[in-house]
Amino acid sequence: MTDEGPEKEAPASPHASRLTPNGTGDPVDGVLAAFREEAGRGVSSRSEFERLKGKYVGREKGLVPALFAGIRNLPSQERGAFGSRANAAKAEIEESIARLAAEVELREIEARRQAQAVDVTLPGRRPVAGGFHPVTIVRRRIEQIFLRMGYSIADGPELENDRHNFEMLNFPPDHPARDSQDTFFVDRKAKSPLLLRTHTSPVQIRELSRRGAPLRVIAPGRVYRNESVDATHAAVFNQVEALVVERGISMADLKGTFEEFFTAFFGRETKVRFIPTFFPFVEPGADVAAHCPFCAGKGCPKCKHSGWLELAGSGAVHPNVLKACGVDPEEYTGFAFGMGLDRVALLLYEFPDLRLLLDGDERFLSQFTNEA
Ligand code: DAH
Repeated sequence: MTDEGPEKEAPASPHASRLTPNGTGDPVDGVLAAFREEAGRGVSSRSEFERLKGKYVGREKGLVPALFAGIRNLPSQERGAFGSRANAAKAEIEESIARLAAEVELREIEARRQAQAVDVTLPGRRPVAGGFHPVTIVRRRIEQIFLRMGYSIADGPELENDRHNFEMLNFPPDHPARDSQDTFFVDRKAKSPLLLRTHTSPVQIRELSRRGAPLRVIAPGRVYRNESVDATHAAVFNQVEALVVERGISMADLKGTFEEFFTAFFGRETKVRFIPTFFPFVEPGADVAAHCPFCAGKGCPKCKHSGWLELAGSGAVHPNVLKACGVDPEEYTGFAFGMGLDRVALLLYEFPDLRLLLDGDERFLSQFTNEA
């Protein structure tokens, strides 16, 4: 550096005073020194880098362009030397800035890589396994028990006709027993009006007519009623029907079957009692209550402190039903029962509202995935 002259000789130059902090000294050296110091500290982020770059080489306000702009204020004989020193400084600064740019870029790539990194040592995520609906769980358990007792599983249409849903089950037309099973009619004008079945009992008719006696079947399935829906009443629900027609079948067989079944289902010895009632398709008819398996009959909220749970309608198959299905009531007798699956699920799992079974809400349904 031989030429330190220009600013000392022209200290009043507006550029000179702007370019050196104290308004003295050589502007090129000043800019270079300031840059080296700042750049030497390094930049920790892109914004810091951009600020540094703008400050020195920014086209509008950069200190380096300002050096060149100042040239025209110099005496012409100094311009050449000043210009070449300014060029050298510019080259150094630009090179240094390019290096910093590469550094910033590298650091960003590294940061991105780390953010996206896969930690292969983390435990894997288990895929979510689906599960059975609580009513399906109950249905399958009941099916297993009856299959072991020699029953087969039958199925029937949900869109039934009046003949199978009522008439052949010994509900005469206009009989008041029909009122307790109001339903949704699909075609009232059909020869036998079409309706959504109100119970699974029509499967008794279909199976017995088709297969004849002896017969031992259960028929689980969905049924419909014209109900006002609330926490304990649904318009769509599920039942399981059972029908046994053999020689010499009596109410004692029905009672024994229930005791077997409830004991197997609830996993503890369960007594059964009959309460006489009326259903057109049985004679005699009975509501079946089981000794509450949750409190062993001592009384608890589930049995409303009575010690008994009413779980099914049942009876000895009415001779008119056997006859309607082509079976001789003098030769064969039978028993039948029907039970609500949703109610059993509600008792078993203690949830507050039947409608939860139809909502399809995962938060509710996923609680049963470990069952069955
Ligand atoms: N089907 C009847 C109902 O839904 C229940 C029922 C009662 C079924 C007695 C039967 C039975 O098989 O014998 O209310």
